[in-house]
Amino acid sequence: MKDDNVVWHSHEVTKQSRAQQKKQKPCILWFTGLSASGKSTVADALEQKLFEMGHHTYLLDGDNVRHGLNKDLGFSDRERVENIRRIGETAKLFTDAGLIVLSAFISPFRSDRQMVRSLVEKTEFVEIYMSTPLRVCENRDPKGLYKKARDGQIKNFTGIDSEYEVPVSPEITLNTDESDVNECVNNIIDFLKSNEIIKE
Ligand code: ADX
Repeated sequence: MKDDNVVWHSHEVTKQSRAQQKKQKPCILWFTGLSASGKSTVADALEQKLFEMGHHTYLLDGDNVRHGLNKDLGFSDRERVENIRRIGETAKLFTDAGLIVLSAFISPFRSDRQMVRSLVEKTEFVEIYMSTPLRVCENRDPKGLYKKARDGQIKNFTGIDSEYEVPVSPEITLNTDESDVNECVNNIIDFLKSNEIIKE
């Protein structure tokens, strides 16, 4: 709980000056979708491309963050809410640092994604919905988790016995069953250019 005696301190080096130094517009590229829908793969390839273009980036990835910052959290609804709250605040800090942040979390609940959106300026949040169907994700099953969930060995698995709320108006929708990784990345790059987040 926040103490009433904790007062916000404004620093001299601002978000704007940090962004100007990096010659870029900071933002959050928020991937959401089922496990194995392609979030991490596309985010990884996109980060490589942005890096090659000279941008300053950071990729926050569900499986990795759950080994550190969020290793105390499981997959109940309450813990998933806390998972996304912490990631949202972290992404906001990195945006404040002037970075282009990519995040790849299932983030199954609309209200949580909306909460993160509300943390930054309107143009700074780009929701990227990986719409790859459950059937395809379950066939891929790279970690064997869908099988375990179907067998009842994992409880609260997204898409099986825990809900995924489809985004209502994401900025970008991608389906990795229909488009390869390169096409997905180019699609996002085109969006970032046409919205003047990155330069032509
Ligand atoms: S989120 O729902 O809280 O946003 P997050 O993206 O951090 O989830 O973690 C998802 C990853 O954790 C999956 O890709 C999968 O590897 C693993 N995982 C383990 N248990 C579950 C579960 N019950 N539901 C979904 N993913 C799980």
